[in-house]
Formats: sequence, C-alpha cells, structure tokens
Amino acid sequence: MVAITVNSTAHQLDIEPETPLLWVLRDELGLTGTKFGCGIAQCGACTVHVNGAAIRSCQTQVGDVDGATITTIEGLSADGKHPVQQAWLAEDVPQCGYCQSGQIMAAVAFLKDTPAPTDADIDNGITNICRCGTYPRIRAAIHRAAELMKG
Ligand code: FES
Ligand code: FES
Repeated sequence: MVAITVNSTAHQLDIEPETPLLWVLRDELGLTGTKFGCGIAQCGACTVHVNGAAIRSCQTQVGDVDGATITTIEGLSADGKHPVQQAWLAEDVPQCGYCQSGQIMAAVAFLKDTPAPTDADIDNGITNICRCGTYPRIRAAIHRAAELMKG
C-alpha cells in the first residue's frame, strides 16, 4: 500500500510502488490536467508539487512519495484564481495548451524561491519545454504574477 494526499484528499493505494506517479494521478485518480509529454523527465508537461517542490511525475515512482502531500493543477486553487493562473490569463499565455499545466506548476514553485525574478532567473529556473514557443508570454506572466504576489 502507498499513502498519498493529493489536493487535500488522502488516498491509500494498492499499487506497485514502481508505478510512475503520473499514471497514478491520471489513471487511478482521474486527474488528467497533468500531461504526459516525453516520459523521460525532459519536457516538464507532467510537473506537480510534492511537499511544495516541483517534480516531474513521469519519472517519480509512487513508492518514493509514500506519505507525501501532492498538489496538481486541479488543486492549485479552489477557483482558478491563484495569482499565477490570473497572470497566465491576463497575458493570454497558452497556444495549444498541452504544456501549460506543467508550466504553471513549475512557475508557482519557482516564485516561492525567487519572488522577484529577472528574465535570466526565469530562463534558468523554468526548464519546461513548450513546443509552441510561448516562452516570451510565460516570462511576462511570471513577472506579472510576481507583482501580484508582492501585495
Ligand atoms: S512527461 Fe515528464 S518530463 Fe516530459
Ligand atoms: S502551448 Fe503548446 S506546447 Fe506549450
């Protein structure tokens, strides 16, 4: 058995501990906002928070997060109004949208450690890939979110 708390709900899962966390979230718990991109921890489409830190769930075995508190895009805010989500809307960031839940989860964790980032901080700190090339809007949204979170 593996015990995890996901978006404030506790789960006891009878599951192989080697199962990727991404599959547990999507297939066992139905939380399909977290996406499968590369499967090799490169693209970041599968980014979620484990105990507040951004991790790539495609290469995280569920047994390794036994007892952890996990947040997915569905649990980031009750009403979709987390400052990062507000900034994303204001900057109209997504194109196809596929990478975007991972981008937002990465940005939220990044801003906790770097509340007033420069463009270089963002480029170094956010390594998620966007095949649509929305990087300039992601950067603008992170700056906007940083401003929103100041108050
Ligand atoms: S799907 Fe996990 S990093 Fe690409
Ligand atoms: S918006 Fe299409 S992959 Fe990023």
